[in-house]
Amino acid sequence: MKTIHIQSRHASYPVHIGENLLDQIHTFLDAKTSYVLIHDSRIPQAYVQKILNALPQCLEIVFPQGENAKSMAQWDKICTTMLEANVLKNATIIALGGGVTGDLAGFVAATYMRGIDFVQIPTSLLAQIDSSVGGKVGINHHNTKNAIGAIYPPKMVIVDVNTLKTLPPRHLANGVAEMIKCGMIADQELIEQLEGGLFDRQPLALIRRTIEIKKHFVEIDEYDRNERQLLNFGHTLGHAIEAHYRYERYLHGEAVAIGMVHATLDHAIKHRLMDLLRQYNLPTTDHVAIRDLLPYIAKDKKNRDHQARMVLIKVIGSAYLSDCVIDNEIIPINEVKPNEHLG
Ligand SMILES: NC(=O)c1ccc[n+]([C@@H]2O[C@H](COP(=O)([O-])OP(=O)(O)OC[C@H]3O[C@@H](n4cnc5c(N)ncnc54)[C@H](O)[C@@H]3O)[C@@H](O)[C@H]2O)c1
Repeated sequence: MKTIHIQSRHASYPVHIGENLLDQIHTFLDAKTSYVLIHDSRIPQAYVQKILNALPQCLEIVFPQGENAKSMAQWDKICTTMLEANVLKNATIIALGGGVTGDLAGFVAATYMRGIDFVQIPTSLLAQIDSSVGGKVGINHHNTKNAIGAIYPPKMVIVDVNTLKTLPPRHLANGVAEMIKCGMIADQELIEQLEGGLFDRQPLALIRRTIEIKKHFVEIDEYDRNERQLLNFGHTLGHAIEAHYRYERYLHGEAVAIGMVHATLDHAIKHRLMDLLRQYNLPTTDHVAIRDLLPYIAKDKKNRDHQARMVLIKVIGSAYLSDCVIDNEIIPINEVKPNEHLG
């Protein structure tokens, strides 16, 4: 097992990464603490059972799987269930599952009784390398992705890579898209390793590397005002595509894959990126015109004064923020220098 510590504004929290960690869950959790286990309806029961075996007193709350569960209605239901069960401020929430579970359960943790502790046990690749690290929690609202949320770091993250064995291939590829994103913005070697098929042979090594990249951006800019925004490569159009199809056609990483292709302006890099995305069965294009995505792009939290602020790629492994005019194509007009305060 390897542990990476993430330094947040108020405290540092460990991300434990290894195999079969769910079988040793009792060593990470304190049986005397009062726990609330939150998971969706699709997570394999075997994982739920391992936690319930270690923590028999824990309150279990199940919500329907899927992006639509990241909603005010589900947040309300979960908080109500916890109030009815008399869950107190000293309880700890365990978010077991993918990014939807982490975002929703984390937002409950951030808001219930003005904030209670929570532990992330991410089981999808996307959640293991991305959403469980960095403290962003939240829900969608009014057809706007992550419209309501907080930066609320977990107390601990436990990444058991063995859980990926049951993850459907489409969801595995969905996570690889975020891995590719990290390579594109920060690590050319990671891109070369993915091209060489290393993920199939040594997933643990690439998962660790991607978490280290995420750690770098989270620690220098936890509140997402400067450098952390580079992690949004592919997300301006990705979020717009997800919203355009009402979160039904594409998974998050798939939409980001298409968004990354749009945001890569250099032809040679674009072709290399498309080849890599295809290698992992990810989509590279969609027939929707960029112009039709503009109403959704206008809602993007990164935009200022009606200009679209996007992450673009200089060379593989190096990204920058730029104000762009978006019509039928993306035209960079003004590079935003690092540390230029955007808040
Ligand atoms: N907070 C952040 O920083 C951040 C970053 C990126 C993405 N996100 C959010 O993450 C969400 C997407 O997360 P996701 O792709 O994990 O989707 P998800 O949470 O819906 O999980 C995908 C599906 O896989 C199932 N599943 C999870 N682990 C499994 C396993 N080991 N075996 C079998 N089935 C398993 C789930 O039950 C679900 O049906 C989006 O809402 C996105 O906005 C958040």
